[in-house]
Amino acid sequence: MKEQMTIVDDFAKDTLAGLASFPKSLSSKYFYNDIGSRIFQDIMQMPEYYLTDCELEVFTSQHNEILSAFKADNKAFELIELGAGDGLKTKVLLSSLVNQKIDFKYIPIDISKQAVADLVQDLKNQIPDLPVEGIVGDYFKLIKKLNGQYRKIILFFGSNIGNFEWNESIRFLQHLRSVINIDDMVFIGFDLKKDPELILNAYNDPSGHTAAFNLNLLKRINDELGGHFDLLDFVHQEVYDEQTGTAKSYLMSRKKQSVSIEKLGKAFEFEAGEKMLMEMSQKYDLELIDELAEKSGFQIVRNFMDSRQYFMNSLWKLKS
Ligand code: AVI
Repeated sequence: MKEQMTIVDDFAKDTLAGLASFPKSLSSKYFYNDIGSRIFQDIMQMPEYYLTDCELEVFTSQHNEILSAFKADNKAFELIELGAGDGLKTKVLLSSLVNQKIDFKYIPIDISKQAVADLVQDLKNQIPDLPVEGIVGDYFKLIKKLNGQYRKIILFFGSNIGNFEWNESIRFLQHLRSVINIDDMVFIGFDLKKDPELILNAYNDPSGHTAAFNLNLLKRINDELGGHFDLLDFVHQEVYDEQTGTAKSYLMSRKKQSVSIEKLGKAFEFEAGEKMLMEMSQKYDLELIDELAEKSGFQIVRNFMDSRQYFMNSLWKLKS
């Protein structure tokens, strides 16, 4: 298993930038330490968090069509998953690929060492014939290293793309575009716009998993950067803007307080009721997905939607 080691420095730098800005924000890309990855597994099991079930349904009901679209020719390929997590949904596609004796290798990349180790072990037990190599690290950086001898299909599932700002998502996809070849593909999961209440409920669960997910980033700052956040002094709040399709997670300070962070050599002042942006989760429609593909230099090969039309997996290749 390969490993990347500059994450702690970036964490300090990004935390400082976010807390020094107005309004304050933190980057949700740091949610996924080992505890955060475990909380996210719990989120994916929640009845309110429909995204996982919908994407799983797409793969289960349409795996033959998806595999045919992947194959294009019969050349061997690498299936590279960015932010693989527990690979629950991907396993459906992997089993199908192995059963059909398609020549490929699965390369899951995740920021959590534990998540990658667990996934690789789990896959070895469940699909013994699967060729798999796990990589730990920040996939923004690892993308640069993807140039190899095989055709590549890059998987970016779970509507992870929605956690980027619009311009950031274009930059990310343009970056991806610059490291892949003409016969490579990307397969992206998009959560679609729908009844606002359903979306809000997915991020406002009564069980408190989403709140714990957000608060865990404060704990991580305490543990790794010498922060002095009292987790009880912050409360999770979610808003969804139907016009833009953006869900936003905030942590609101319950009182006026000063929080010092030793490694940053600074204290940060919070007003009572001040909201710190923790994460945004963009919801899409077909027009927005078309625009994203167009602006980042891709063309859509084929779209796959679940039966309720809540979620879409879109297969792209480079624009010719
Ligand atoms: C990983 N990502 C797509 C999730 C989402 O839906 O934005 C993260 C998440 N945040 C709260 N619940 C789930």
